Amino acid sequence: MKTKKKIKKQIAGLTAGVTLSAVLMLFGCGGKETPSASSEEAAESGRAEWVIGMSQCNLGEPWRVQMNLDIKQEAEKHPEIKIIFKDAQNDSMKQRSQVEEYISAGVDLIIISPKEAAPLTPPIAAAYEKGIPVIVLDRRILGDRYACFIGADNKKIGKAAGEWIVDKLGGQGRIVELKGLMTSTPGQDRHSGFREGIKGSELKIIFEADMKWLEPEARKEMESALARFKDIDLVYAHNDPGAHGAYLAAKAVDRENDILFVGIDALPHEGQIYIRQGIISACFEYPTGGKEAVLTALEILNGRDVSREITLRSRVFTKDNIDEGGQWLEEKQDE
Ligand code: FRU
Repeated sequence: MKTKKKIKKQIAGLTAGVTLSAVLMLFGCGGKETPSASSEEAAESGRAEWVIGMSQCNLGEPWRVQMNLDIKQEAEKHPEIKIIFKDAQNDSMKQRSQVEEYISAGVDLIIISPKEAAPLTPPIAAAYEKGIPVIVLDRRILGDRYACFIGADNKKIGKAAGEWIVDKLGGQGRIVELKGLMTSTPGQDRHSGFREGIKGSELKIIFEADMKWLEPEARKEMESALARFKDIDLVYAHNDPGAHGAYLAAKAVDRENDILFVGIDALPHEGQIYIRQGIISACFEYPTGGKEAVLTALEILNGRDVSREITLRSRVFTKDNIDEGGQWLEEKQDE
């Protein structure tokens, strides 16, 4: 870990002779960055002691915009840190370069929400070898060369979704599974957990496809499923945009009332609205971990030990429990 003095010198070196916005442009090549006003002020007045580089795999989805917002809101309470944001625009190679740029700029800590496990493992390991702590958020990388992983338990969420569906359909039915990007770990875990949850039932997966977490892809895949199968009881999508895309495809051919839709994320302004509108029947919360990432970064920067794995809790929302704030998965399993 670097000393505060050295870090201050580094920031001073980075800013010498140029304005802060020019420095931010240097950090920003290949992506947008949006430092919060207060962290910008703090840096300009020399109050920021630490610079954190954040690489977000894309900002095309509401859930990721929310993650950045959660990070910014927490960071604004801590003027000793300045966070620089980069958007990798759903491109693993671009995200690799962003991590490399943060390493060569000598940031004090990196927060990354990686697109895919394999391509992002080497640059994160390189930062780790250089003594730059890396907090990995939401999607995992391979191996263990990072400081801390923060995310909810996707296997548990997938299993809970499977059990909920078995219960809802009385153990029988024809299912479409629209999977998240299968080179990312939440897609793999939401799939394997789900299969475990439906084990022993008579549910049949009649169609499965990788919709890569994207609503338009989910809609396209669902159009194929609808064209091939007259009878579909339920769509299990690995995220709420996927469930919504499938719903729109069914609605376009007047079949939305014959099919149930289940998703994951449960943002208040996305999945939870779909529940209230009766578009989807259940959605499972996937917290962004943004606030926890900032708090963990502060612990690390202050030289305190943190656990290598921070597991966030999840709730299920249905129209029957949404007014009470959903139901925690733990409570459900303890019943
Ligand atoms: C956003 C997203 C979320 C999903 C998460 C999984 O990019 O697709 O909808 O829960 O990523 O990593």
